[in-house]
Amino acid sequence: MARPVQPVAALTLSVVAFGLAATMAPAETQIRIDLGRKLFYDADLSFTGTMACATCHEQWHGFTDNNRGHPGIYDDPAKRNVPGLANIGAFKNFTWADNSLGTLQRQARNPLLGTAPIEMGVSGHEDEVVARFATDPCYDKVFAAAFPERGGEVSLDTITLALAAFEKAIVSTDSAWDKAEASGAALANPTAERGRKLFAEKGCASCHTPPLFSDDAFHKVTELKEGEADAGLGDVTGKAEDRGMFRTPSLRNAAMTFPYWHDGRVETITEAIALHDPALTGQPQPTGNEVAALIAFLGSLTDHTMLENPAYALPPEACPLKP
Ligand code: HEC
Ligand code: HEC
Repeated sequence: MARPVQPVAALTLSVVAFGLAATMAPAETQIRIDLGRKLFYDADLSFTGTMACATCHEQWHGFTDNNRGHPGIYDDPAKRNVPGLANIGAFKNFTWADNSLGTLQRQARNPLLGTAPIEMGVSGHEDEVVARFATDPCYDKVFAAAFPERGGEVSLDTITLALAAFEKAIVSTDSAWDKAEASGAALANPTAERGRKLFAEKGCASCHTPPLFSDDAFHKVTELKEGEADAGLGDVTGKAEDRGMFRTPSLRNAAMTFPYWHDGRVETITEAIALHDPALTGQPQPTGNEVAALIAFLGSLTDHTMLENPAYALPPEACPLKP
């Protein structure tokens, strides 16, 4: 099968689109991206060999999985809805509500090693899981090529670095909205074009700020229910004023990333919009007509180039390095 093309071009685009030039290290080499991609789709990264990153983060759904939550390898119920990964390399805060992770490399330790809930179950079995890769002839060669300065070290550190390199290459810059912005044109669908204006006028853009469609900041937009277990950022910082704060989710590919909200509590965008409490956001609730236009606008953020990019899919070849 033909070798998939792209990541390098896609990466360059994202550098331009998000002004990331300064933060995009040269270490993000193609072979490191290829390694991260192979790992992302490899169930051997979970202790039981039954769950890959891609089990929960499916490309076609914008790297979500369209379930309220995805249980871990021992069926621990999920705490939260799987978020999408479009342009994730441009964020500073990762997951629905955590300001302490700092890097994608650090974030990757959560599904691997996390115990509340257990997702991939590697905690306590680190050596055994790492050994699977260190003793594999293909991986052994690829780690050597991807981390020459570390003598091809195979460890959780290099595994998570490679995963982060792949994730940074997942960019969405080719939706109908991107094309309209680039050319200065209106969206072809007049309802979507009306929604585009409403998105700014109704204050959506103040939090869901283009081009990421997130300000990468934390907001409380719904009151916590009595006895609600998940207090968002407050659980991380321990501060009362952070209770109920969540990071604004990106709305890229929103039509594909249902269900919505940090706990996946609603199935439709209409319900998700209605969940924003005007008393907390300071923005009036849009009318039914306006909501319809906003939904049409969000449809213009579906990026088939990203959703179908073969460079983000399960690698067709067994080993990214040619013999
Ligand atoms: C069992 C399902 C599951 C698996 C497996 C899984 N994830 Fe996730 N992922 C999630 C959920 C749920 C969240 C949100 C967690 C939270 O907010 O506490 C998340 C969040 C993320 C984020 C942050 C996204 C954002 O918007 O900030 C990244 C990046 C990510 N995962 C990458 C990975 C990688 C890499 C792997 C494999 C090592 C992986 N995930 C495996 C369910 C999963
Ligand atoms: C004050 C900031 C703020 C404003 C203003 C705002 N949002 Fe949000 N939005 C958020 C936050 C934070 C969440 C996530 C809440 C959660 O999961 O607990 C969210 C969630 C969403 C979701 C669900 C996304 C997903 O993947 O689950 C949609 C859709 C959405 N907002 C659309 C809109 C629209 C349309 C407007 C304007 C009418 C708007 N938002 C205004 C902050 C904001």
